[in-house]
Amino acid sequence: MMTFEIKHRDAMGRIGILNINGKKIETPTIMPVIHPNPKKQIVSMDLINKLADVIITNSYITYKTKHLREIAEEKGIHKLIGFDKVIVTDSGSFQLGVYGDVEVEPLEIVEFQERIGVDVGTILDIPTPPDVDRDRAERELEETLKRAKASIELKKERDFKLLLNGTIQGSTYLDLRQESAKEMAKLGFDIYPIGAVVPLMEQYRYREVVEIIINSKMYLPTSKPVHLFGCGHPMFFALAVALGCDLFDSAAYALYAKDDRYLTETGTLHLEDIKDLKAFPCSCPVCSSYTPRELASLDKKDRERLLAEHNLYVTFEEMNRIKEAIREGSLWELVEERVRCHPKLLEAYRVLRKYMDYIERFDPVTKKSAFFYTGVESMFRPEVLRHKKRLKRIKYEKVYITTVSSSVEKPYHEHLNVIETDVDILIKHPVFGFIPYYIDTFYPLSQHEIPELFDYEKEIDKKFVDDFINWLKKKIGEDNILDIMTYNYYINYFSATKKIDADALRIRKMLQYQYGFDIIDDELMDKIKVVRSKTTGRLRQVLDENGNILFSIRSNDNLLIPSERGAKLLWKKIPFPKYRVVVNREAEKFAREGRNVFAKFVVDCDEDIRPYEEVLVVNEDDELLAYGTAILNGIELKEFNYGLAVKVRGGVKNG
Ligand code: GUN
Ligand code: ZN
Repeated sequence: MMTFEIKHRDAMGRIGILNINGKKIETPTIMPVIHPNPKKQIVSMDLINKLADVIITNSYITYKTKHLREIAEEKGIHKLIGFDKVIVTDSGSFQLGVYGDVEVEPLEIVEFQERIGVDVGTILDIPTPPDVDRDRAERELEETLKRAKASIELKKERDFKLLLNGTIQGSTYLDLRQESAKEMAKLGFDIYPIGAVVPLMEQYRYREVVEIIINSKMYLPTSKPVHLFGCGHPMFFALAVALGCDLFDSAAYALYAKDDRYLTETGTLHLEDIKDLKAFPCSCPVCSSYTPRELASLDKKDRERLLAEHNLYVTFEEMNRIKEAIREGSLWELVEERVRCHPKLLEAYRVLRKYMDYIERFDPVTKKSAFFYTGVESMFRPEVLRHKKRLKRIKYEKVYITTVSSSVEKPYHEHLNVIETDVDILIKHPVFGFIPYYIDTFYPLSQHEIPELFDYEKEIDKKFVDDFINWLKKKIGEDNILDIMTYNYYINYFSATKKIDADALRIRKMLQYQYGFDIIDDELMDKIKVVRSKTTGRLRQVLDENGNILFSIRSNDNLLIPSERGAKLLWKKIPFPKYRVVVNREAEKFAREGRNVFAKFVVDCDEDIRPYEEVLVVNEDDELLAYGTAILNGIELKEFNYGLAVKVRGGVKNG
């Protein structure tokens, strides 16, 4: 029995709770590779137990080694290894890849893994290497799929307790990776490893690894953990997690130590090259007990063990750093830092641009951290792409396009002396394209830091600006894009003849941008009242004509957070199924009481919902039951069966 739920998220990365037959682990995490023969294990099981909640070992070696097999069959794998928590086993596929053959039948090794009490076993997939001819890749994938199907059937028939890894193969053919993901998804595995990337990692072909991950992820259920098989270098973790990988295994900590190599989160150092340093660039128990010279002068066996321990510490340290970045909403910033460790990593990151439409669907609409620009690649991040799309949600009538000096502080409307009219002022921005004056406080339009850009960086988005202006011309007519003379003439005429409630207009535009519909129409514009804070002067609340709160304006990101009245207004103005999460009858009563909505009750939803958007919970007749924050996006809401779906702010008794 396995459940997986998302607790925090950023980019496509997630902090999840994976419950495997009652044992809980927090993902993303790293599984140290442990040799099944205790005598061959270089790091003590005490340390492994201290650092890891899950380890991976090899069932094939156990099967083939008489005395190990006897202990495993008699006492179980946990006793053999000396580890009570979750044990994952590989199946001999790696040996198959290296030696071309293994002496075990595909179903026999699955059955063996069950027999020795493994928590998560692996099918005997065929790890097809990169660059093989297409025929071979297809043939081997077909064989892997055949074994996958037989393994799942065996597990069902015999009611096995172990969970199964269904590995994605397909060599370097992206369409085969897609097909593999689709077919494996149909079979209903518990965890999906992405296989045969080790040779690519060893050859620094990170770009292909990234494309393989995305092309697999796109066709795998979002509700199942993904394991990047054989990726143990901490330098690659941030990028892989940002693409939705949840599990990693590391033999690297021990293998690198054998060669006197010292892992860091930014690359690998050879002990020979750092032995003259005064101190190690690390404060783990090993590095704070030895100087490089002392460590280098130890005998081979001790040196190897200590290096392996350090390697393990930094591996876990990096994973903790990544989790913290997810909680803070700064995972992209961490990725952008890490990809600068190697040009091939930077190249891999640049390829993401091709897939940003897909990635954007998973990226939260609001984050604790501000958007930090770290280089031209930041231009293509999901926050930027989303803004450029959502700019078209605003209902424009008259537009004036202008620029402001980069010395003007944000938000612009607090620092520019503008005569406020019904004209939408679009302020050109080198990263976000345009920042509409009336929504300039909305995340991330005020919550970002960018350096003064160079001309070549500014060039990048010329096409977007041109396309947007063309779109605007079609939408409102060329005459309604005012030049400076017409604009000046217009504001003079306007101030002499009309009055405008600029705060109400600001709210109207912000709601258009947040939801894509005109929630505050002309009639409501005259009735609502906008309250600014007496201390900060910032927008705080939107009231209806009777002084009841419709929306609060959240101070950190300026999203409009509806009250019950606000939710009813949204429900009236936004057509079904937009911004809806539909739950079944069973959940109706709980939702109306204001209790959280869990994924298992969701029967339908707006597929375009993004994480952390404010949504409406309705029943199948579109009666409003509750309102709150979506924890899952529109794809996940339909696929998850466990965990929180909507964090409910309030229930609606009579919606
Ligand atoms: N270890 C590293 N790569 C692979 C793979 O593709 N399949 C299996 N089963 N184990 C691996
Ligand atoms: Zn260290």
